[in-house]
Amino acid sequence: MTEIHKGLAGVVVDTTAISKVNPETNSLLYRGYPVQELAANCTFEEVAYLLWHGELPTPVQLAEFETLERSLRPLDAAVKRVIDELPLTAHPMDVVRTAVSVIGAMDATLTEPGGIADPELNQKRAIYLFAQLPTIVAYDQRRRRDEQLIEPREDLGFSANFLHMTFGDVPDLVVVNAFDVSMILYAEHSFNASTFASRVVTSTLADLYSAVTAGIGALKGPLHGGANEAVMHVFEEIGTAELVGLWLDRALEEKRKIMGFGHRVYKSGDSRVPTMKAALDTLIAEYDRPDLIELYDELEKQMTERKNILPNLDYPSGPAYHLTGFDTEMFTPLFVAARITGWTAHIAEQLASNALIRPLSEYNGPAERHVTERSL
Ligand code: CMC
Repeated sequence: MTEIHKGLAGVVVDTTAISKVNPETNSLLYRGYPVQELAANCTFEEVAYLLWHGELPTPVQLAEFETLERSLRPLDAAVKRVIDELPLTAHPMDVVRTAVSVIGAMDATLTEPGGIADPELNQKRAIYLFAQLPTIVAYDQRRRRDEQLIEPREDLGFSANFLHMTFGDVPDLVVVNAFDVSMILYAEHSFNASTFASRVVTSTLADLYSAVTAGIGALKGPLHGGANEAVMHVFEEIGTAELVGLWLDRALEEKRKIMGFGHRVYKSGDSRVPTMKAALDTLIAEYDRPDLIELYDELEKQMTERKNILPNLDYPSGPAYHLTGFDTEMFTPLFVAARITGWTAHIAEQLASNALIRPLSEYNGPAERHVTERSL
C-alpha cells in the first residue's frame, strides 16, 4: 500500500533560501535574520528588499527602491473602473484578486518574447504589485464606506501612506509601527498553502500574475489567511471575557476549529505571536480597550488549558487591525499586501531552478469496467 501524505504534511518538496521555519527552536528566519529582529529594527520596505534580493538594502539602494515604489502607487483608471463595477457584496479578497488580474491583463510585456519568465521584468512586476496593493485595498475599504479615494502621498513610507489612504489622516507613530510590524510578520513563511499554490502555477511557466492570483485564492480560506478575519468574528460572537467558557464549551462540543489557534508546522507556539502581541498591546493602550485584551487573554488561556492548542499570528493581528479601524472583511487583503513580497520572491526562486510540480495520487475509485457492460 502506498504511503499517503494527506495534505502533504511533513513532506519536503524543494529547497528554499528565502525563509526558514524551525518548529524545534520556535524560530523564523528571513534570509538568515530572525523575524523579531527585523520587526524591531527595519521597515517593511527594507524587509521586502531583503526577501527579493537576499540582503538588506544599503541606504542608497533603499532610497532608490523607495522612490520607485512611491511613484508606482497611483491606480490606473482601468483598475479603478473595474473595482467600481464590482458589487459591494463581493468579498474584498475577490476585489483584490480581480484587480491583480486586471493589472496582469494590461501588462503588455507578458507577450514579448521571453517576457513571462524574465527575472528583471518579474522583479518590476513584484514592485508594481507591492506599490499598488495598498491603494487597491484602501480604495475598496473607502468605497464600502461611501468615501472618495484618497490619493497616495509620496512623502510617506509604505505603512503611513497605507493608513493615510484608508483613513484620511496619518495616525500616531505607535499605530503606524504596529501596522508595519504586522506587514513584516506576514511577509513570508516558507511553503505555506498560498505560497505553494503560487509556486505550483509558476512551475507550469504561467505568468507572475496568474501565480499571485492563485496565492490570493489560497489565502482567502479560513484555515489560512482568512483566519484573521474569522478571529474577529469569534470575538464578536463571544462578546466579553466572562462568556468565553460557555462559548468554548459549545464550540468544542460542536467540534468547531477555533480560529487563530493551531498550526501545521509549529506545535509549541507560532514564533511570530509574541512580537505581534506586543504590537497589539501598544494599540490596546493607545485606544484604551482593556476589555478586548481581557477577552483575548481568556480565550488563549482556556484554549491552552483545555486543548493545549496555542495561538497563531492571526490571533493577535485580527484585533490589531480592528483597533486600527479596518472593517473586519478587509483583514485578509492586508495579509495579501504583506505576502506579495514572499509570493513574488518564491516565484523568482521557482523559476530559477524550475521543475513542474506534479505529484501522484493513489486511485481508490471503481475497478476497471467497460461501457458495454452497463445496465440500462
Ligand atoms: N481549534 C480546535 N481544534 C484544533 C484546532 C483549532 N484551531 N487546530 C487543531 N485542532 C485539533 C484538531 O481538531 C485535531 O484534533 P483531533 O486529532 O482530535 O481530530 C488536531 O488538533 C490536529 O488538527 P489538524 O487540523 O489535523 O492539524 P493541521 O496541522 O492540519 O491544522 C490548522 C492546522 C491551522 C489548519 C488548524 O490548526 C486550524 O484549522 N486552525 C484554525 C484556523 C487558523 O487559525 N488558521 C491560521 C493558520 S496560521 C497563519 C496563517 O496561515 O494565516
